[in-house]
Amino acid sequence: MLLEAKDIHMSFPEGDGLFRRKRKEVLKGVSFELHKGECLGIIGESGSGKSTLGKVILGLEKQDSGKILFEGSELRKQWQSEMNVVFQDYTSSVNPKFKVYEIINETLLQSKLSGEDKRKKIIELLEQVGLNEDFYYRYPHQLSGGQLQRVCIARAIAKMPKFILLDEAISSLDVSTQVQILDLLIELKEKYGLSYLFITHDLTAVTYICDRVLFFKDGQVVETVNNTNKLKYVKDEYSKLLLGSVLDIEISC
Ligand SMILES: Nc1ncnc2c1ncn2[C@@H]1O[C@H](COP(=O)(O)OP(=O)(O)OP(=O)(O)O)[C@@H](O)[C@H]1O
Ligand SMILES: [Mg+2]
Repeated sequence: MLLEAKDIHMSFPEGDGLFRRKRKEVLKGVSFELHKGECLGIIGESGSGKSTLGKVILGLEKQDSGKILFEGSELRKQWQSEMNVVFQDYTSSVNPKFKVYEIINETLLQSKLSGEDKRKKIIELLEQVGLNEDFYYRYPHQLSGGQLQRVCIARAIAKMPKFILLDEAISSLDVSTQVQILDLLIELKEKYGLSYLFITHDLTAVTYICDRVLFFKDGQVVETVNNTNKLKYVKDEYSKLLLGSVLDIEISC
């Protein structure tokens, strides 16, 4: 087991002034397990709390209650560096004034590599994501969306984490670029035994890359499908609705 979420509750303050004491519960007792080398999909409607769950896992938000365990340990300091993230909005997740090598170097700042060794490492990373040395000194605005998302993936894998959170990581790309990025993610996962949590609205992408999938609604997991080939056998009403609307198939009862 790589990652375990146990009964996570999380709320945000709601309203202004006096009413700010009221809180809105966004995660309502979320539990799941992510195995080593697995890609677990989380699919659900907008506002259902998927990104909030991702932020809690990364330690960017603190849950009200519940536990996150990584390789059985609750001590975030011990495993924080084993995690990284790729967001949907690749343009705002990079500093526009940074060149490609500086963007990737953000993850390598604490590494002992220096000078030529670091340069070689960055070029190696660029090659791993299907780019090359020519991109080294380019600025984000000189790259296509797909190329920039590849740079973000290179930054995410630079320290060889065990876990990468992919929050709508392919959603802003056109369909053929989406397939290329999914193929790249599958290749990296197999090569390095990475585990992914793949947050998405896109069921086709889920069937392409995920081993298992959680259906998320209103801050709760309503159904877990352990085999993405068996998606059409979902039982929960919401999962059926979601699947029926996207896949245009009749869902069996
Ligand atoms: N920092 C915050 N302060 C207050 N409310 C927040 C905050 N972040 C998120 N929320 C609220 O929590 C709820 C869940 O948001 P979240 O971003 O997790 O949804 P999501 O499932 O990722 O949606 P989408 O698919 O649109 O990305 C929303 O109602 C949102 O407005
Ligand atoms: Mg989101």
